[in-house]
Amino acid sequence: MRTRIVAIDPVRPEAGRIALAAGIIKKGGLVAFPTETVYGIGANAFDPKACLKIFRAKGRPADNPLIVHISSIAQLRSVAVSVPRDIERVLGVLWPGPVTFVFKKSSRVAKEATAGLDSVAVRMPAHPIALRLIEASGVPIAAPSANTSSRPSPTDARHVIHDLNGKVDMIIDGGPALFGIESTVIDATKKPYTLLRPGAFTLEELRKYIGEITAPSEHDASRPRAPGMKYRHYAPRKRLVVVEGRSLLIKAAGIARGRKVAVLCSDELARQLGRGATSIRLGSERNMYEITRNLFGALRSLDRTKAEIGLIQSFPKSGIGFALMDRITRASGSAPLSSEKALRKVLEQRSK
Ligand code: TXA
Ligand code: MG
Repeated sequence: MRTRIVAIDPVRPEAGRIALAAGIIKKGGLVAFPTETVYGIGANAFDPKACLKIFRAKGRPADNPLIVHISSIAQLRSVAVSVPRDIERVLGVLWPGPVTFVFKKSSRVAKEATAGLDSVAVRMPAHPIALRLIEASGVPIAAPSANTSSRPSPTDARHVIHDLNGKVDMIIDGGPALFGIESTVIDATKKPYTLLRPGAFTLEELRKYIGEITAPSEHDASRPRAPGMKYRHYAPRKRLVVVEGRSLLIKAAGIARGRKVAVLCSDELARQLGRGATSIRLGSERNMYEITRNLFGALRSLDRTKAEIGLIQSFPKSGIGFALMDRITRASGSAPLSSEKALRKVLEQRSK
């Protein structure tokens, strides 16, 4: 399939180009588009065949449901039923924004979009291109992140082109994503509401609006909440190891000198690494949102280096750091290292 790549102004989307993209959605095609979190790959959520195409293009397991994107609160009624009162009351404040709620599904949404579940995940994205596209299409748009399944989510059109060129009808280039991490997913089908996936909207902030939200404890973090959380995720092709503690990471960079190792860390820490260490910078620790925004791009950069292994800094888990560490841990897929002995073992058995 030939993929059209079309640049659209993220602040004032050109109506003609949006109409072109909306035409594809209406005809049952696939359009990748930017949101404020990550890029999504979208199809008409009412069209079973179109939704199935998303799974094929991404190589996504059939039991992993999609998020349905809407452009107005009124449209919520066409995709979800029995929205709890206390949530409905604050939706006008939380949306558009990077939080997704799981509600009981309306029968109009294709069961292919929700992987057969009787619930549906819904969000209204805070991005002019996404909102205009949904409006112009006249239907809600089912859209998972626009990466090949298991790869890091795309935070820039180049990432989407890399993963999906030739597999979708159109890719909209609307520049870099603002948050660079996916939305927070909350199960609102029963009380207490539960966190299914930490994301761009922090739990601390969300609790101010909707009260109690149960979050998985450290112990059951391995138990998947959302169906999609059971799969290996966000993974670079190279081995990624989390290193606990700044001094250990600095030491690690020393041990790693001359080996095929790259260090993914903050600007501050990168300045403390000795010369000769290969570092991939995530941004300044003074702004954890910047570090978060750069993570997925950095994981893709790691794959383009000669390094065989990436060592990544561990960050505090408060605020946006909770979602950041969730993604780092999943991308690594192995336990963090907290001693020099464990570190030497990893570095010495690999990358001599
Ligand atoms: O920021 C985002 O949420 C991005 C942009 C494109 O909006 N989308 C995104 O979609 O990250 P995706 O498909 O990559 O992640 C959706 C997550 C998955 O973990 C999935 O299992 C979960 O939401 N999910 C979707 N529908 C669900 C449902 N009915 N019940 C429970 N979890 C659901
Ligand atoms: Mg995804």
